[in-house]
Amino acid sequence: MTSYKNGTPWLDTDGNSIQAHGGYIINHDGYYYWYGENRTDKNYVSCYRSKDLMNWEFRNNILTQDSKTEEYRVRTKLYLTNEKGGKVNIERPKVLYNEKTKKFVMWAHFENGIDYHCAAVCVASCDTPDGDFVYHGTFKPYGEDSRDCTLFLDDDGRAYFISASRDNADTHVYRLSSDFMNLDKFCGNFWQGEYREAPAVFKRNGEYYMLNSWCSGWAPNQGKYSRSFEIADNWRDLEKFGNEDTFVSQPAFVLPVEKDGKTEYLYFGDRWCYKSLALGVSVNDDTIDYYTKSSYVVLKIQFDKDENPYIEWNDEFTI
Ligand code: GAL
Repeated sequence: MTSYKNGTPWLDTDGNSIQAHGGYIINHDGYYYWYGENRTDKNYVSCYRSKDLMNWEFRNNILTQDSKTEEYRVRTKLYLTNEKGGKVNIERPKVLYNEKTKKFVMWAHFENGIDYHCAAVCVASCDTPDGDFVYHGTFKPYGEDSRDCTLFLDDDGRAYFISASRDNADTHVYRLSSDFMNLDKFCGNFWQGEYREAPAVFKRNGEYYMLNSWCSGWAPNQGKYSRSFEIADNWRDLEKFGNEDTFVSQPAFVLPVEKDGKTEYLYFGDRWCYKSLALGVSVNDDTIDYYTKSSYVVLKIQFDKDENPYIEWNDEFTI
């Protein structure tokens, strides 16, 4: 295929709808790898691969209820099935490649699948981008709440973990240790009491940009952005991004793509399926349709004369 109709099922090369919600894309050895939530069967996180960002080959369910577990340095809780025998929740998985250890390291938001009170992170790693990841368990960063999250890899090889804390009220920025397997520093908390979720960070012309949403569960709301010349400080006040429901989407991540010697920035959002806005999809609120029929919105980020980012609706994402 050469285009994707925003908000419709995105089929992989086997004809199955791509389950990579709340995800992340990295570029490694000539391929893009798309990681994201897969709530079918025993799966938690799946990985797809593409050369052109359009045609995606399913590679593996890289994290499942049966994944191998292994404690790594930090004392963590290692269960992948909860005390009632059900699935836990692993949301917004992000993966970075660590040049030093040659490992692919995943960070995600963890809940126990029974209530929503864990507010913790979890970490997994693998020697290949799409192999079976080993689960290293869950913990709370410096004892703090951590829900919607993202990773950002800076030009100097340092990586940062950004997440919603204090019951989602504030946004925290942490620096990762050099092997990306732990936190190394709490850098700061921002936008106190503004309940920002779904953070997505990118860097352009030496400046950091962060997109996020407000906190309204699966229902979309007004996206916002901020800018700073330091990832860990001096973030400006939030400004509006997109329209009042961010074109019925919530940020997942931003992908920089080189094109004709220029970098373009692609906004990837999740269009979650939920009962008040079925969008032509028949969804039963009590079933996993709720998640598995969710789709995607991909829009090119544009910049105004003051370098502020904005998006306009487009029916199709084309390459
Ligand atoms: C959203 C969040 C999702 C998921 C959902 C659960 O606000 O962005 O990642 O956690 O809430 O209700």
